[in-house]
Amino acid sequence: MLCVNLPVPMEYHGRMNRIWHLLRTTIGRKLIVALTGIVLILFVVVHISGNLTIYIGQSALNNYAHFLQSSPMLWIMRLAILAIVILHIALGVAVARENRLARQKTRHAGESWYLRLYQHRMIISGLVLLVFIAGHVIHLTLGVGVSEVFRLKDTSGYVDVYSRVVTAFQNAWIAWAYIAAMLFLAIHLKHTVRAVFQTLGFSRENYFAFFEFLSWLVTLAVVGGFISIPLSVQLDWLAVP
Ligand code: HEM
Repeated sequence: MLCVNLPVPMEYHGRMNRIWHLLRTTIGRKLIVALTGIVLILFVVVHISGNLTIYIGQSALNNYAHFLQSSPMLWIMRLAILAIVILHIALGVAVARENRLARQKTRHAGESWYLRLYQHRMIISGLVLLVFIAGHVIHLTLGVGVSEVFRLKDTSGYVDVYSRVVTAFQNAWIAWAYIAAMLFLAIHLKHTVRAVFQTLGFSRENYFAFFEFLSWLVTLAVVGGFISIPLSVQLDWLAVP
């Protein structure tokens, strides 16, 4: 077999070296967790903004879903989000482990269990979200559990995502499971928004109150929006027409 070694530009080696070096330092790993965290925050903000069109009506949500599903970028975006989630989890677990080891050196005897639980909140809420996202994609993207409405089309001939969502949340167990999962999203998001600012260097004392306010605002708006959908179906404010 003919084997040809193509010349690789020096600047490519330089860039790969820098990324590799970044991954090998604690601050580099924190930076990547923060940057991937920003992309995931943007993802949930865009996702809830799109989902809220459910309150405009059936065709608004279905048009929005059709716009996404017919995009030539759909699979590129899906694979990019998957890669970002994997990177965020892998480096997030490493950073949490390093923080724990650092804390062990300063740990006081008799530390309460709820303090320990609080210190592990990012790992716990992150793992719950991982299970949630896997279940959510199987449920609403693949249609497992809502097969009776999965193939429905609306009057424009678009996939009827509206009926899929409303039918799914008419099951009280599913609706309350989503609401419970959103509380873990709140824990994760609240910490992430603030941590992102700190890691990116905005940690001067006079900004603290502003970033605390901003992290509460983003968390309550996003999580409140997500929770409102299963809750509205359970309260019969949203129904299949
Ligand atoms: C009540 C809350 C939520 C509702 C009603 C909802 C609705 C939906 C629907 C209808 C789809 C399928 C779209 C389609 O196939 O056209 C979807 C996909 C998805 N959702 Fe959600 N979602 C909710 C919360 C969340 C949260 C909190 C996250 C992330 C933390 C999330 C992440 C995703 C992901 C990753 C997909 C797969 C995207 C794809 O199909 O490419 N969702 N969601």
